[in-house]
Amino acid sequence: MELTGKVVLITGGAVRIGRGLVEDLVRLGCRVAFTYHRSRVEAEELARRLGAETGQDVLALSYDARRVQEAPALVERLCAHWGRIDVLVLNAARFYRTPWDALSEAQWDELLEINLKGPFFLAQAAARQMRLQEPDPNGIRGKIVAISDVAAELVWRSYLPYQISKAGLNLMVRVLARNLAPSITVNAVALSTILPEPGRSVSPEAFAQDIPLGRPGRIEEVAHAVRFLLENDFVTGHVLHLDGGRMLR
Ligand SMILES: NC(=O)c1ccc[n+]([C@@H]2O[C@H](COP(=O)([O-])OP(=O)(O)OC[C@H]3O[C@@H](n4cnc5c(N)ncnc54)[C@H](OP(=O)(O)O)[C@@H]3O)[C@@H](O)[C@H]2O)c1
Repeated sequence: MELTGKVVLITGGAVRIGRGLVEDLVRLGCRVAFTYHRSRVEAEELARRLGAETGQDVLALSYDARRVQEAPALVERLCAHWGRIDVLVLNAARFYRTPWDALSEAQWDELLEINLKGPFFLAQAAARQMRLQEPDPNGIRGKIVAISDVAAELVWRSYLPYQISKAGLNLMVRVLARNLAPSITVNAVALSTILPEPGRSVSPEAFAQDIPLGRPGRIEEVAHAVRFLLENDFVTGHVLHLDGGRMLR
């Protein structure tokens, strides 16, 4: 898919990795809307700055992934502004420790709702709209990319609901890819170590200790992987590991 001028929705785009994806796709000439939940100030500042830099509209939209009934309205908001949606990037997620003997029902529900249920219903709303659109010259009507985690395939002691949410996301990608072929591709980028959680102070060496390539991944490298899955039309149902070799151990 040629990305220039495409209408893109990115969840959780105000901060950290999502912010890097927003910046990359805006600079590539996409028409970008991104969501924020708590980071309203950062979101509005980012939309204003990128809009001023590029002369394009960049939309910052409030969205709570737990409110799945609002997903269709979010897609309609892009359609009202630009008449379509070409790309959905599912980046928003929560991540925190949940040791099994202290894990509460509220934590279980929050992690599964934000990281799995919310992304499914937003993908459903976006794909329903994409299917109505005229295909591009290569027969593509839309693209969905989920940001996942190699933790979906590992055995950690204290992150069970988070890991289940990402394992479910990987399966969701494959099931949607089967359903939405041939005109919509659905893929995931499974990350390992990119950025420590906010407030966690850790040296780059300690943070990357499980990474054979010896360093954390860079946000530009995540953006590059997302771009590959958007530009290439012959990959669907794939979970691309961007993990510095983490899964070799
Ligand atoms: N950081 C890493 O090294 C790493 C490693 C593996 C996988 N990943 C994956 O990569 C993605 C981005 O990671 P990150 O570290 O940049 O994440 P992050 O700092 O935890 O940011 C998560 C984003 O999710 C949004 N969000 C949280 N709760 C929400 C809700 N209820 N509704 C809507 N949005 C909500 C936040 O929005 P607000 O700030 O506006 O509230 C924020 O933009 C995630 O899917 C994560 O699982 C990251």
